[in-house]
Amino acid sequence: MAGSVVLVVGSGGREHSICKQLAPSQLVAEVHCTPGNAGTRHFATNHSVSATDVSGLVELATILAADLVIAGPEAPLCVGLADALSLVNIPCFGPVAKLANLEGSKLHAKQVMRDAGVPTADFHVLDSESDIDAALDEFSQNPWVVKRDVLAGGKGVVVTSDRAEAKAFISASIISDGKVLLENFLPGEEASMLVIMDGTDYVTLPCSQDHKRAYDGDIGPNTGGMGAYCPAPVVTEIVHQRAIQRIVEPMHKYLSNQEIPYRGVLFVGLMITESGDPNVVEFNVRFGDPECQITLPLISSDLYTLLYSAATDGLIEQETTFHDKQALTVVLAAEGYPATPVKGRSIDGLIVEDIVSENGTTWVNFAGVGVDENGGYISTGGRVLSCSAIADTLVEARTLAYQLISRIKLDGSHYRTDIGHRAL
Ligand code: AMP
Ligand code: GLY
Repeated sequence: MAGSVVLVVGSGGREHSICKQLAPSQLVAEVHCTPGNAGTRHFATNHSVSATDVSGLVELATILAADLVIAGPEAPLCVGLADALSLVNIPCFGPVAKLANLEGSKLHAKQVMRDAGVPTADFHVLDSESDIDAALDEFSQNPWVVKRDVLAGGKGVVVTSDRAEAKAFISASIISDGKVLLENFLPGEEASMLVIMDGTDYVTLPCSQDHKRAYDGDIGPNTGGMGAYCPAPVVTEIVHQRAIQRIVEPMHKYLSNQEIPYRGVLFVGLMITESGDPNVVEFNVRFGDPECQITLPLISSDLYTLLYSAATDGLIEQETTFHDKQALTVVLAAEGYPATPVKGRSIDGLIVEDIVSENGTTWVNFAGVGVDENGGYISTGGRVLSCSAIADTLVEARTLAYQLISRIKLDGSHYRTDIGHRAL
């Protein structure tokens, strides 16, 4: 495996993080990223193939003689990246399209969970024939949870106590997609569980907690994630055991018995009830963003070995180890995010050492950051960057991450000041 060539697909903070963690591996000779961003270029060679151009990605991987392709986002997997790479014998970290449908279709995920006996909220499928009012009455335990059955880039779910809003979202979704899911509301606390899987085994990474709402105190609109920390104490030893027994084991059994087993990371979005019972809110077929940025740095064994093993059904032979540390990340969002992010503003206060993390304890991951003609950093997206730290305690990691973010200036930007509040 020494001298391996890796191609990372994607352009966000998650892919920046993957490139950064792979670059120091003794086994990796070259890291490539496509399309990458202004951060990945410090650890990888960026290319210009789009993350959804499957034939372009296969061609690039072939030209590079890649030993491993790592899919960052779900979109290329849902359109068959792993399937296409298998035809040219290039291992892919990320499942084939049929299994990526666990994220591509929420209805499919629900059916799999029902067949596998995995705990999740009850649901109804509504279509143009359905009596929407009767369904809303039946699921009258407020608020209503409505989910589109398509990849909607984080905008496919509405949780609301406003009947008119629920009804309007249901009607619009049926018009655009033909059907929609109405789900029972699950009270509890959320956590993210990342499980690396292949046909032989699985490895659970330390569980984390994201902060999905835009503003402090968990209020405001839903976002892709405003910050996270790891490990999350809400996932106690007993909750972890229950999640393994009730969710991970049955899912691994189902996924490893497929014609082509699941090879990649299964992101289990958990809702943990007050009594400590975990339910599945969603599955994703990729690392969470920003969860990835604070989970990968906690892995003390070689990341390339872990991901390559999962892509080639070799997990059973590997031992994965972790640092006994705490990590926390805070996302800097553009003015107007999530609804209408303002782009194209200059970002000041960043130095290269922040990105390459010379001190090893704090670092910046880029998401929506570009470079202008003078080499200055400019904002190009809603979630612009994230500032992270790793330390012996969560309090220390929080202090360091907030010190870093307070130094970075972007007009109109906002970030949450209470990341980690449930643990602290
Ligand atoms: P999803 O895209 O399925 O993860 O949903 C987005 C967010 O909506 C989740 O992170 C939860 O905060 C919330 N959510 C989804 N389903 C439920 C549910 N059944 N009960 C309570 N909250 C939910
Ligand atoms: N941070 C949540 C996600 O990646 O879906």
